Amino acid sequence: MAAVAKERPKSPRARLFVALDLPDEIRERLVVWGREALGDSALRPVAPESLHITLAFLGSRPEEEVEAIAAAVRESVAPAPWLELRDPEPRPPRGRARLFALPVISPGAEALQAGLAQKLVEGGFYRPEERPFWPHVTVARVRAEARGSRRPMVVSEPPGAIPEELAEPRIAVRMALYRSELQPTGARYVPLAQVELPGGGSSEVI
Ligand code: 2AM
Repeated sequence: MAAVAKERPKSPRARLFVALDLPDEIRERLVVWGREALGDSALRPVAPESLHITLAFLGSRPEEEVEAIAAAVRESVAPAPWLELRDPEPRPPRGRARLFALPVISPGAEALQAGLAQKLVEGGFYRPEERPFWPHVTVARVRAEARGSRRPMVVSEPPGAIPEELAEPRIAVRMALYRSELQPTGARYVPLAQVELPGGGSSEVI
């Protein structure tokens, strides 16, 4: 009994990230575009509710930090940034693609990300990436060649350009702290905290 009592239970952890949410209208148009553009059988299109711009991927954190991280997200609030989507690009850019993402032109999102990253670093929740922030919306991941393999399939029909109306400037809606739950069918993203951005393109009241 004494030996058991000495064992400390592992504190539960969560895979966390902070993202900018896109207007519903953009996500709906992306779904319509994706029906054809992401039709290659090697592609797994991202679910509409999972289309977002990641600002900071925190990785696995103790669940007890969630409240403090949500507070840091709220403290980083800034006017909603303008976003301009561009045509899909493969990542990595050479060799077999693992995913396809739409680059996003947005000085506002870059400023928001810099402020958020600083707050998260100060709190000890985040180690900034060495590469510069690349705002993007991942629209599809490439399936693995075989079960248990990490090698992606060959994509014979990569997604083409987005229509003009999708490239027009849009305004972001909110920032959200998500928990990523890995499942055999793909990750599910559960919002833990949502912060509306002033001037943001949402008519919802949360
Ligand atoms: P992605 O869109 O470029 O794949 C949840 O996994 C979100 O965090 C995804 O949108 C993913 O971005 C992002 N992310 C960033 N770095 C990651 C990493 N090292 N591992 C997993 N997801 C990461």
